[in-house]
Amino acid sequence: SQCHRVAVIPGDGIGREVVPEGLRCLQAAAGVHGFMLETVEFGFACAEYWQRHGELLPPDWKDVLGGYDALFFGAVGWPEVVPDHISLWGSLLEIRRGFDQYVNLRPVRLLRGVRSPLRDHGPGDIDFVVVRENTEGEYSRIGGRIFEGTDRETVLQETVLTRIGVDRVLRYAFDLAAARPRRHLTWATKSNGIAVSMPYWDERAAAMAQRYPDVTADKDHIDILAAKFVLRPGQYDVVVAGNLFGDILSDLGPACAGTIGIAPSANINPDRTWPSLFEPVHGSAPDIAGRGIANPVGQIWSGAMLLDHLGEQAAAAGMVAAIEKVLAGRPEVLTPDLGGPGTTESLGKAIAEEIAAG
Ligand code: NAD
Ligand code: IPM
Ligand code: MN
Repeated sequence: SQCHRVAVIPGDGIGREVVPEGLRCLQAAAGVHGFMLETVEFGFACAEYWQRHGELLPPDWKDVLGGYDALFFGAVGWPEVVPDHISLWGSLLEIRRGFDQYVNLRPVRLLRGVRSPLRDHGPGDIDFVVVRENTEGEYSRIGGRIFEGTDRETVLQETVLTRIGVDRVLRYAFDLAAARPRRHLTWATKSNGIAVSMPYWDERAAAMAQRYPDVTADKDHIDILAAKFVLRPGQYDVVVAGNLFGDILSDLGPACAGTIGIAPSANINPDRTWPSLFEPVHGSAPDIAGRGIANPVGQIWSGAMLLDHLGEQAAAAGMVAAIEKVLAGRPEVLTPDLGGPGTTESLGKAIAEEIAAG
């Protein structure tokens, strides 16, 4: 049978608590669907590694990770020990760029058994995907401070958009929309205020829309888009956004659908030159780390996206079905963010058992 080789990077905080549950469920899926999963765990990309080595990744990380079929990542960040901009630019953001994972795919669905904080929204009413540009845009280190320490102190931070970078993520999003039943796409913009980068984004999106006559496409400015996520989330299907807006929307969306604890993501290199990286949307959650109460569903669902990417569609669907069944039918194992009395392990085990039951 086929063997998939996966590099596992738990990272910091609750990353270390939810990754084992993700692996438990992945192995259960492998058992049922008749493939093997060989996992190798790496201890870099965390605060402890930084304390010992003064960096987040080994210098040869591209060689170390480049040969794996996929990367399964928890979360990085422990601001008490290492400033966030150092730890994230030195690990996750470095990997996304180095492996050219230019699409960050973040599905948002209101599942049975999960209560939305929004009035009058039930299962199935929210079902969209955020497609986030993942390698350029506002996430840049170009800029600097001048006249530092004086009353003229000035800070510049550049946004970088390239034609290739913008067009390729738009194309991915339009292709995705074309393959979904509603065939609708919304792009996030702010061309009324951000007068250089955003009009360019609009121009490229409008040009791409011309090539997809079967997709209805429109744009929303990010401010009203955020409001409409709360007021009418059901109208969205595919939402494509630049790096920063995509980041914000992909926490807001899952919050509208109940909890960010269940939100998965796939950092995809569509060319498949490099491995793609699968991780929950949430971070290391220092406020609840060490208590065993983090919701493992975001990690487990990310595992399903990993299998889907590796061609194991039936196993991926089985994992998502098991997640839905447990959320809807086993209130006693649910974690506190879902209103339950359970733990990371009780929820992870219940889902793994459901996967194993097929
Ligand atoms: P966070 O996502 O870690 O936590 C935000 C809030 O959501 C916290 O109250 C937390 O307890 C809760 N939460 C998050 N995940 C949860 C889960 N699975 N179950 C239950 N509750 C959950 O965001 P933050 O507080 O802004 O960041 C904390 C650290 O994580 C920082 O160092 C940040 O830079 C880092 N971070 C890393 C990633 C990543 O590695 N992909 C993503 C976001 C933040
Ligand atoms: C995410 C995170 C990261 C991002 C941070 C930790 C750099 O918030 O994956 O959404 O902004 O991309
Ligand atoms: Mn984020």
